Amino acid sequence: MSFSAIVVAAGSGTRAGAGTPKAWRRLGGRAIARWSVEALLAAGADDIAVAVAPDMIETARSALGELPNITLVEGGATRSASVRAAITALSPHRRDQPVLVHDAARPFLTRDHVSQALAALTQADGAILALPLADTLKRQAGPRLETPSREGLWRAQTPQAFRHDQLAAAYAAWPDDQEPTDDAQVVTAAGGSVAICPGDPLLFKLTYPEDFAMAERLAAGARLVRTGQGFDAHRWGPGDAVWLCGVRIDHDQTLIGHSDADAGLHALTDALLGAIGAGDIGEH
Ligand code: CTP
Ligand code: MG
Repeated sequence: MSFSAIVVAAGSGTRAGAGTPKAWRRLGGRAIARWSVEALLAAGADDIAVAVAPDMIETARSALGELPNITLVEGGATRSASVRAAITALSPHRRDQPVLVHDAARPFLTRDHVSQALAALTQADGAILALPLADTLKRQAGPRLETPSREGLWRAQTPQAFRHDQLAAAYAAWPDDQEPTDDAQVVTAAGGSVAICPGDPLLFKLTYPEDFAMAERLAAGARLVRTGQGFDAHRWGPGDAVWLCGVRIDHDQTLIGHSDADAGLHALTDALLGAIGAGDIGEH
């Protein structure tokens, strides 16, 4: 399904501590914002607007520059101002298609998250990924500690999916003096329905300094090294050369097989298939 995306990356990341704004810090060798942009491209996004703080445009260009289908747009002072700017940067020819809004600060986005949100959008005016609350809630009410019910409460994540026109109209109707904390809030305020689909703990938002240490551990896991082993054996027979790993070697016999009998390439192929857990050469 054809869809557009907005990645909001224009925040200053004040809770994450001093230094480069979090979207442009590196995680596993890539800028944090690039993780989401690459996942959206892999999922088939054909138009992505990335909201970037004005003083970070050059940084963003060098982090994302060569990727296709991307427009960098200056973000605003608040998240909602950044979303508004990105909406206007998307191609006017795609006004009727789904648009996904995603926080750059949630780098572990996958194709599955995207397809879940797009599938749920067919049932409502918006679709969000959200998680139920696991912990008991506490509210300090003066000296008293209250325990509010968790009933019906969700933790809203991104991506959040909408239809382009509806999202644009909802933002146009949202009052300037209030700051929404997500896009579903803007669409529901305009009378739209929003469906919830299962969120993912891996879509946590990098917010505080300790979140970055956890993200580095997860990014290292994503770079897992795998090994495989393969062997092959063929009978000797009459001939004048042997082929090993694609190289002809003169010899007074040859290797017999229904195939090309290149035992070297067969062993290597089995090793590669083993490393990716995809069976063996005979099976394929
Ligand atoms: N965002 C944005 N424009 C803003 C503020 C936020 O595009 N003016 C983006 C952030 O870059 C982030 C997402 O909105 O990807 C979620 O916001 P948050 O986690 O609050 O990021 P920051 O606002 O950057 O962080 P902080 O609130 O700690 O300053
Ligand atoms: Mg913020």
